[in-house]
Amino acid sequence: MDIKTVGIVGAGQMGNGIAHVMSLAGYNVLLNDVSEETLKSAIDTIDRNLERQVSREKITADEKAAAMARIKTTGALPELGQSDLVIEAATERETVKQAIFEDLLPHLKSNTILTSNTSSISITRLASRTDRPEKFMGFHFMNPVPVMQLVELIRGIATDGETFDACKAVVDKLGKTAATAEDFPAFIVNRILMPMINEAVYTLYEGVGSVSSIDSSLKLGANHPMGPLELADFIGLDTCLAIMNVLHDGLADTKYRPCPLLTKYVEAGWLGRKTQRGFYDYR
Ligand code: CAA
Repeated sequence: MDIKTVGIVGAGQMGNGIAHVMSLAGYNVLLNDVSEETLKSAIDTIDRNLERQVSREKITADEKAAAMARIKTTGALPELGQSDLVIEAATERETVKQAIFEDLLPHLKSNTILTSNTSSISITRLASRTDRPEKFMGFHFMNPVPVMQLVELIRGIATDGETFDACKAVVDKLGKTAATAEDFPAFIVNRILMPMINEAVYTLYEGVGSVSSIDSSLKLGANHPMGPLELADFIGLDTCLAIMNVLHDGLADTKYRPCPLLTKYVEAGWLGRKTQRGFYDYR
């Protein structure tokens, strides 16, 4: 299948990063969001991040201009009907994702591949509520998308080989590396990463270490580029909690119990960098 146009639903942190790398790789991008303001700020972010790549001589100014020209924003979901591949990158809430698929499906071409950038929700369950479970799969990018090399590809129980191969070819064209994961809660990266972050929050909660000593320990003692609490703020504490809940509910093991301190921060609206307050204060 020849993929030329990629529709992206959601222009937040992940959606704008996906639009950035897709357009730079030569795909036409239709970027959708319910908020005009989010779309505008996504374009500003993409422009800034592409400029950063120009200034570091990773790409030329012409390549940047061509990439920007390939991105079209729209507040109207039906316009994504022309896409060959759709990547849903909306909020990590199953009801939100389902509502998007319901609205989008009547407008899609019959052979459009539908994917979700979900970091933890069952692909098989999401697929089962669409008209094309064999053309549905998980397409999971890491944050920041332009920098991180990995894309997790997750087959639902019904995903066919042609769909998988087409998505794998897109990952190759992006110059990224695909890791294939089976469809179990949180797949591979978050199955391993989130319990580590959750354990770091327990370490803080139990007073074993301070925010800075926990983060320095992992940065300097285990060579992680960011400490786990800094990384949690970067990902978003609401997303971290949602993923822990998927692991806890889906695997029914107390080792995945979300730390009460993580829950409390989310209840306070302290969601990390995006709200300017999390384990660190960014105000
Ligand atoms: N767009 C384009 N380029 C970017 C960028 C962006 N958004 N953000 C950073 N860069 C580039 C910089 O320009 C810089 O490029 P050069 O190497 O050419 O100089 C390079 O990336 C490094 O950036 P900085 O020098 O600004 O900062 P840094 O060295 O501190 O690195 C970081 C920043 C890449 C974010 C690094 O701290 C890191 O790797 N952190 C861990 C990130 C991580 O673990 N992500 C996965 C999260 S889990 C996930 O995403 C899955 C999920 O479902 C929750």
